[in-house]
Amino acid sequence: MRQDPAEQPPAARRPTVAAVLSLALATAVSPTAWAGGDPAKGADVYDKCIACHSPSLNRIGPRHQGVVGRTAGGLTDFAYSPALKKAGFVWDEARLDQWLTNPEKLVPGNRMGFRLQDPAQRADVIAYLKTLK
Ligand code: HEC
Repeated sequence: MRQDPAEQPPAARRPTVAAVLSLALATAVSPTAWAGGDPAKGADVYDKCIACHSPSLNRIGPRHQGVVGRTAGGLTDFAYSPALKKAGFVWDEARLDQWLTNPEKLVPGNRMGFRLQDPAQRADVIAYLKTLK
């Protein structure tokens, strides 16, 4: 999360302790780093997904329109792996963050061979997915 320097008290404007602290904080809260992603940046991150996905069309991976709030493996017109089909949860920000971090850990036996290592990129792309209604 970025703060406008103009909104901060003068002491915080020095690029010292405040910057280091916010970095440490960002690391400390990384399990929930998806909160506060930027959908506009996420649209750029989504370039990494379009090799296999599209918002509105099933491709190698299922379409993403409405994915937030959708049951995992829940589209009836996409041939999911048996593993994802019986995953039995609904996609929310936390699940998506886990999925993009390591799909194999969340749903062993799934077929998505892709990971997004950068927590900020995950947060941004999840914020973007939320706009695909
Ligand atoms: C190399 C191809 C590939 C890339 C790149 C890829 N995916 Fe996937 N994705 C898949 C496949 C294949 C599945 C279906 C997996 C299964 O059935 O086990 C999938 C499934 C998913 C699902 C589950 C959807 C549902 O209907 O349950 C989500 C969410 C998802 N991908 C998000 C992403 C995002 C976001 C990105 C980019 C940051 C991405 N994927 C990049 C191939 C890919």
